[in-house]
Amino acid sequence: MYYKLRRDVLFRNYKEYGLITDISEYGYRMLNDTRPVLGEEFVSQSGAVMLSMIGRKPISINEIVNNLSKIFIGVDIQTLEDDTKEFLGYFCDKGYLCYGDKEEDCQEQLFKDLKEAPADNTFVPIVDDCGKNIIKSKDFLRSIHVEIANVCNERCVHCYIPHKDKINAIDSNLFYRIIEEGRDMNIIHVTLSGGEPLLHKDIIGFLKRCRELDLSVNVLSNLTLLTDEILEEMVKNPLLSVQTSIYSLNSLVHDQITQLSGSLEKTLNGLKRVLDAGIPAQISCPVLKQNKDDFSEVIEWGRKNSTSVAIEPVIFASYDHTGENLANRLNLDEIGKAIDCQLNEGYVDILKGIAREKESIKPDDPACSICRYSFCVSAIGTVYPCVGWTTNIVGDLNTESLYEVWNNSKKIDELRNIKKRDFPECVDCKDRGYCNVCMMSNSNENPDGDAFRINKFHCKVAELKHKKLSIYK
Ligand SMILES: C[S@@+](CC[C@H](N)C(=O)[O-])C[C@H]1O[C@@H](n2cnc3c(N)ncnc32)[C@H](O)[C@@H]1O
Ligand code: SF4
Ligand code: SF4
Repeated sequence: MYYKLRRDVLFRNYKEYGLITDISEYGYRMLNDTRPVLGEEFVSQSGAVMLSMIGRKPISINEIVNNLSKIFIGVDIQTLEDDTKEFLGYFCDKGYLCYGDKEEDCQEQLFKDLKEAPADNTFVPIVDDCGKNIIKSKDFLRSIHVEIANVCNERCVHCYIPHKDKINAIDSNLFYRIIEEGRDMNIIHVTLSGGEPLLHKDIIGFLKRCRELDLSVNVLSNLTLLTDEILEEMVKNPLLSVQTSIYSLNSLVHDQITQLSGSLEKTLNGLKRVLDAGIPAQISCPVLKQNKDDFSEVIEWGRKNSTSVAIEPVIFASYDHTGENLANRLNLDEIGKAIDCQLNEGYVDILKGIAREKESIKPDDPACSICRYSFCVSAIGTVYPCVGWTTNIVGDLNTESLYEVWNNSKKIDELRNIKKRDFPECVDCKDRGYCNVCMMSNSNENPDGDAFRINKFHCKVAELKHKKLSIYK
């Protein structure tokens, strides 16, 4: 028998325990990908030793047992083989491992082989909501979001990064240090974002190093600058996926948002090349005044191309607290229509599921997942808690190691200790399951940066969403 990891699965050995996980929590998944969603599973110390034998190339049971016999000294070979087969068999049955009698049989089906969506394929839209999945079994640094270049070739009207700040690209040595220190801490995932990450002169080197370190990678890019060389490197990492932004299929509308003429054509072309190369992708589509009548066409394009579309009807304020980008935000009536459209597009069950999860949060539970699994690094090396909250600096990697920031930052400690009860009006609020308000959006929206003062506009949005979902048939 031969074994190897499924393409989108990785394993980490944390000494006292091991973790095997697919990248469903981190990467994007095509709508015609019918393989089971696995999530993460912890194994004991000895299980971790067994799983650490399995890599991306098929390995025979004989070789595994031979390697294990040098670690589990004194265990009879037949017993070792039987135990290993039984243990690995469990992970084969679950779908984490591919297996086969011969090396060449140890294969898997890739989504790009699934040219036609299966007949019973139901549309699975994506709702980005950092309130989802906030209660996990273990807290440790799983993921880092790095703004490798906040420079950008577009000037999107809604962008939370003030245009005047779009001037930096990360020092390459600092980036390599971050991912190497991260890998030493056994992180799983890194997001390369911006600004526009493809503007970084060393983007190919960064992608290559992430692949060598067996890191799951998301590249968040407008794809207008995608070259064959970048695509070629992307394809090599089976743990890599891409998110791009499409606001409308009408170039006048899309380009009016990005303020870059010809951008829709380039982004669509880039996305098609990504998909043709077999790289999983997702479309991000914040809804603004400019595209409120067009965004359902983007969902339709996504459906036809088996690509999820993340719709966000309520954009958040830029981090300079000016609120200037909010001139493009939908008003309550427009948000209501965008929610109706989401519901008609099949988002009901997902939104209801998120609501149930949020409603189950108790007053003494953490307010959200802030700094419990991830944090962000800016293009100048400062560390901040979550996307958009760039001004809340909780560490500086120019002077501290990743380990020091994660473990010793007083600000991170304070953030981790913020509980639901610190938002008294939210604890028993009837609409809390439908509410997207968060500390970052409070802080950005308040001129004084107060993260605890809630703008009542968000409460009205939550009430509206709740009402619409309760009556939706
Ligand atoms: C900051 S961009 C970086 C990656 C790349 N430049 C792009 O636009 O895809 C990542 C995503 O954030 C979205 N975004 C920007 N400003 C936003 C805001 N104020 N509220 C919600 N999403 C926003 C963008 O539309 C884009 O989909
Ligand atoms: S949303 Fe992305 S492409 Fe648009 S200005 Fe911001 S960083 Fe650039
Ligand atoms: S709707 Fe307002 S009061 Fe209710 S949970 Fe959201 S922010 Fe808190």
